Amino acid sequence: MDSPHIEYIADTAVDGALDRALRELLVVCFTGPQDAVFREHRHFIEPPHHRWFVRGERGDVIAHVAVHDKVVVFAGARHRIGGIADVAVHPEYRGRGYVRRLLATAHTWLAAHGFEYAVLFGDPEVYTSSGYVPVMNLFQDATDAAGQPCRRAADGAMVAPLAGRAWPVVEVYLPGQKF
Ligand SMILES: CC(C)(COP(=O)(O)OP(=O)(O)OC[C@H]1O[C@@H](n2cnc3c(N)ncnc32)[C@H](O)[C@@H]1OP(=O)(O)O)[C@@H](O)C(=O)NCCC(=O)NCCS
Repeated sequence: MDSPHIEYIADTAVDGALDRALRELLVVCFTGPQDAVFREHRHFIEPPHHRWFVRGERGDVIAHVAVHDKVVVFAGARHRIGGIADVAVHPEYRGRGYVRRLLATAHTWLAAHGFEYAVLFGDPEVYTSSGYVPVMNLFQDATDAAGQPCRRAADGAMVAPLAGRAWPVVEVYLPGQKF
């Protein structure tokens, strides 16, 4: 496995050149119809707070993860989570362990900054080796068949504990947008 130099940046500090490089990577990696948003801006639904990334030899961005600063609610209390999003590796650089490296770096930072869990929506084959397990008890706001607001278990949710506490078995509510 390569040992890439991993850079951190707060999303608010991203300048024009890095914004272009991030969007170039995201456009190459996310090709569904809904992903065209990356041509316009570097976030999918709402801007993340933190980014970790690796640059290629030409200064382009070849690997990236974003993190949203979010909370979940269970047992009557709020718990801080890092919402992992926009995980992307340029096709020429895949299979070198960049995702594992980026997530390990992000996890260390999140744990040191008071985040209890990392949460993402993704493929277990990609994220199991980074410590994530699928969970069925993460609920988000939704609308039922009659158009009424309801809460629905989120598809594809996976969680990695960051503070030594297991994910709870009770219902967990994630307010706000999916990331
Ligand atoms: C998904 C993606 C980020 C993986 O990048 P990568 O460089 O291959 O990742 P890594 O080398 O760090 O591999 C991490 C793990 O994912 C697995 N993996 C990677 N691509 C996979 C695939 N298409 N199917 C199944 N497993 C895959 C690897 O085998 C590895 O597992 P291991 O640690 O148990 O051996 C990359 O393929 C990509 O950018 N895809 C397009 C964007 C995307 O789908 N992002 C994920 C959104 S949830």
